[in-house]
Amino acid sequence: DWDLELDTSTQDGKNLQLAASHLKCSDIPVAFPTETVYGLGADATRSAAVKGIYQAKQRPSDNPLIVHIASLKQLRRLLSTSSSSPEVDPIPQVYHALIQRFWPGPITIILPVPENSELALEVTAGLRTFGARMPRDLLALALIKTADVPVAAPSANASTKPSPTAAEHVRYDLDGRIELIVDGGPCDVGVESTVVDGLSSPPAVLRPGGIGIDSIKTVPGWENTVVGYHDISLKGDAAPRAPGMKYRHYSPKAPVMLVEATGGTQPSSSDLARQLGLHAEEVQLEDVGRSFTVWDMCIGPDTASVARGLFSALRELDRKNVDAIVVEGIDDEEGDIAAAVMNRLRKAAEVKVVQL
Ligand code: TXA
Ligand code: MG
Repeated sequence: DWDLELDTSTQDGKNLQLAASHLKCSDIPVAFPTETVYGLGADATRSAAVKGIYQAKQRPSDNPLIVHIASLKQLRRLLSTSSSSPEVDPIPQVYHALIQRFWPGPITIILPVPENSELALEVTAGLRTFGARMPRDLLALALIKTADVPVAAPSANASTKPSPTAAEHVRYDLDGRIELIVDGGPCDVGVESTVVDGLSSPPAVLRPGGIGIDSIKTVPGWENTVVGYHDISLKGDAAPRAPGMKYRHYSPKAPVMLVEATGGTQPSSSDLARQLGLHAEEVQLEDVGRSFTVWDMCIGPDTASVARGLFSALRELDRKNVDAIVVEGIDDEEGDIAAAVMNRLRKAAEVKVVQL
């Protein structure tokens, strides 16, 4: 564990202190940056505060929330019960190496809810497990540490919309519903954390995210990690084990058509545009008798920047009020963050898959 001191003589320090006191006392959630996406936070020990999250987001109440902590000490406090022995680490052994390697960072671990837990029931949506994560964003860590409460936080978008990766995205979705956004600029990673379950055998990735399955498999005890989520075009049809995975999500207003290659050669954007007849700024479709404008966007030159820019690109196209969005898929065989990108795109896409 490590420590972080907040300088309250500066305006930034005072602002953060104000946000922390809202977290502690108010029933209206506070939006804050993390390295993945912006979160909508509330004191995870107070029911009224946690209900405020579901209300602001219009989120279905059977979808559990991730609990954010700023130190292992804070997590141990949350996991300890009156009967637990001080000699035994309440964090299950299976997670030690994983935490060592990836925390603070974009990975969420599934833990048993202890008896007489101080977590509000609304956090777990009735499950006997909960997800915990230590974000690496310094503002997030400072906020949680200053509030000195475990912070339940889903992504700070309106339910069904793409997750927010900048403060203005949060404002666009939740203006009038919340009072405070801690603005830390654009998020580093751009897709949500990887959710892993080490309580099951073999351990499973329940949601692909910022840490790829290939890196997870290099951690002792995690070599046999399996994919525990169901993605269209992935083999097998296991029911989703992370409840949130079954909902419509990441959807801009316009229908999204995702174009995935079946493997081998990936079409380049210009190939793709040509095949779809979208090769000019102004396109005249003879048979439709209507001209329309094509916005050609390149999200990024490599996988990490595609992940970083994905949600923001979907939102930008929404602002332009486009009629349809065509997205070229990326290769997700790699076991890295590409799996998270494609998982989000497959959910956003209404016209599921066009294979070339
Ligand atoms: O990067 C992130 O994880 C962001 C930032 C804010 O930390 N948070 C986030 O939260 O994405 P949310 O609520 O949008 O997604 C939480 C995911 C859902 O898919 C939910 O079903 C799953 O985690 N989850 C939470 N608790 C769970 C549990 N006990 N068992 C299985 N899945 C769980
Ligand atoms: Mg979300």
